[in-house]
This record gives sequence, C-alpha cells and structure tokens, in this order.
Amino acid sequence: PAPLRLGIAGLGTVGIGVVRIIQAHADLLSARAGRPVRITAICARDRKKNRDADLSGYDWVDCATDLARRDDVDVVVELIGGDEGIARQAVELALDNGKDVVTANKALLAIHGQALAERAEAKGRLIRFEAAVAGGIPVIKTMTESLAGNRIRRVMGVMNGTCNYILTRMQSGGLPYAAVFEEARKLGYLEADPTLDVGGIDASHKLAILASIAFGTRIAFDGVEIEGIERVSIDDINRAADMGYRIKLLGVAQMTGRGLEQRMSPCLVPADSPLGQLEGGTNMVVIEGDAVGQIVLRGAGAGAGPTASAVMSDIIEIARGVRLPVFGQPAGSLARTQPARTAVP
Ligand code: HSE
Repeated sequence: PAPLRLGIAGLGTVGIGVVRIIQAHADLLSARAGRPVRITAICARDRKKNRDADLSGYDWVDCATDLARRDDVDVVVELIGGDEGIARQAVELALDNGKDVVTANKALLAIHGQALAERAEAKGRLIRFEAAVAGGIPVIKTMTESLAGNRIRRVMGVMNGTCNYILTRMQSGGLPYAAVFEEARKLGYLEADPTLDVGGIDASHKLAILASIAFGTRIAFDGVEIEGIERVSIDDINRAADMGYRIKLLGVAQMTGRGLEQRMSPCLVPADSPLGQLEGGTNMVVIEGDAVGQIVLRGAGAGAGPTASAVMSDIIEIARGVRLPVFGQPAGSLARTQPARTAVP
C-alpha cells in the first residue's frame, strides 16, 4: 500500500518527539496503520539548532506553507503553535491544497476551530487535534469514539499542568506564589507568554474545544468565564488545607437550561478526591455521560513523549482512512447549532 507522507512543521519538543516515535516504531506503526508512515519534509525556524535527532533523510523547506504546497506531502503536521501567523497560514493552505492536517495547536483551534472545520469539510479534508487538549490523555477520541453512544452531561478537569504544578508546590512547600512562579519559569514550564498559563487562558482554550465536542456546539472560547491563579495566596491554600481541601484551577463545561456554561477558576476540591490528589504537572479530565456515568482520565498534559503520542494517534487514524467529521459531527451542523452562550450563574 502507498505510504502516508508527512510534512512536519515545527521541530520543537513535540516535533522532535513525533520524529522519534516514527523512527523508533516504524514497523509497529506500519502494521497498525495498514501502510507505511513516512516523513518526507520538515521545517523549523532554526535549521542549525542541535536537536539530537537524525533528520538527514528528510527534505528541509524554508517555510511551513511550503509543506502545504508539496505534492509528496499528504498530511501537514502543524507543531508550531500560536493562533495567528505561520501556523494558521500553513493549516489553511494545507486544507485548501487538499491535504489533511494534524495539529497540537489549542489556541488556533479555540479561536479559529469552527472556520477551520468548515474549511476542511468544504475541501473534503480532515483536521485532527488530539494533542491540543490535555497532552497525552486521549480525551478527544474517548468522547468522539468510545463514548459516542452517550449524551455528555458534563466535562471538567485540570487542563494546565503548569498551574497545577504551581498550586501543588505552593501547598507542599509552603511557598508564596511569586517564588513558585519563578521556580516554574526556571524549569521551563511556562508558555512563552506566561499569562496564557497563569491567567487560565490556555486551560480555557482546551475547555472550549472539549465543550464543543461534548455538546455539539460551536467552539465558544469567548464564552468561558475565566479566572486565573495569580491571586491565589499561600493563606488561601493553607486555609483550604485546614478544612480538608486543595485549590485546583478547574474547568467545568455543562449544558444548562440557560445555555452552555463554561467556567475556568480556582476551585476547592476535597483533598482525598482524585482531583485533590492530582500531582503537579499532570492533567485530569472527568467526563460524565448519561449511559456510562463518570469516567476519569489522568496523565501527562505536556512534554515530548505524551504530546507526540497523541499526535501519532491522529496520524494513524488518517493513515487508516478513517474519515469521521471534525468535531464528532459535521461542521455544517455545528454552524447551524444555536451559538453557545454563557449562562450567568
Ligand atoms: N502550558 C501547558 C501546560 C502546556 O502547562 O499544561 C501543554 O498544553
């Protein structure tokens, strides 16, 4: 069978993680996909950077949009990030040029996901994004495939590992916010713009994507009520602990009589509950379906291996020829859905 040919845009932590999996598991992937999976072309901002990976077998191109123009690329794997600029251009051009897209770009999807889904559908292409939400946790496929027989009642969880690290470390070390923020910065946990993490925006991007899939609505990032963790003090944490609680940046999305409610805020959770015991750096997503009841998924929400693992699941799905609609249902039907509104509590 013909190989599935990939163009990898972005060779940071995740991009190199994907290259490593493809090189290490070529036979396994080929068996699972029913055809070989090959990288043909790659690009990154800095070609000369030492990435500690063998990239010699691939064609370098100057720009991600060049990948979208190549005849020997079937799928553009966008691992650049950012909701505008090159990432968006490359994804749009790839779809327009008849290529499928795999991306880990939560900001791009939260803001332009509806338009991209409609664009993909108009061109008969796919855009897949398992890695955009909760890193290695297979939350999107769990909802669209494994829980396809359910009406989802609620989806919630801890979706930003950095905030979870900061809050957990404040608690365990008895340290003030500013000191732990500095620690997280030194460890390289923070996004280039740390407000995305500590302001709750990154987690809200992820919540908005999940809510759209769970409830069949347009992605409504604007409808998320967001409060970050910047004002959580060590006193708040200690008082919560005295009462048997932990503070977590918790996202909750549910459909109410008044519309879609999406909230991201520091919440008290019982210290002995799965959410309360979630250690720093990890993510947890709780899904409630009318038939299945409650499902709890826990794992690494970031990092090379976990995020690349999620990217690979999309690549294999495309290689197998599975053509499910983008958000679990046709984008056209989402466009017709009443735009999601935020229920004010
Ligand atoms: N900054 C994100 C986090 C990275 O801390 O969870 C993964 O999306």
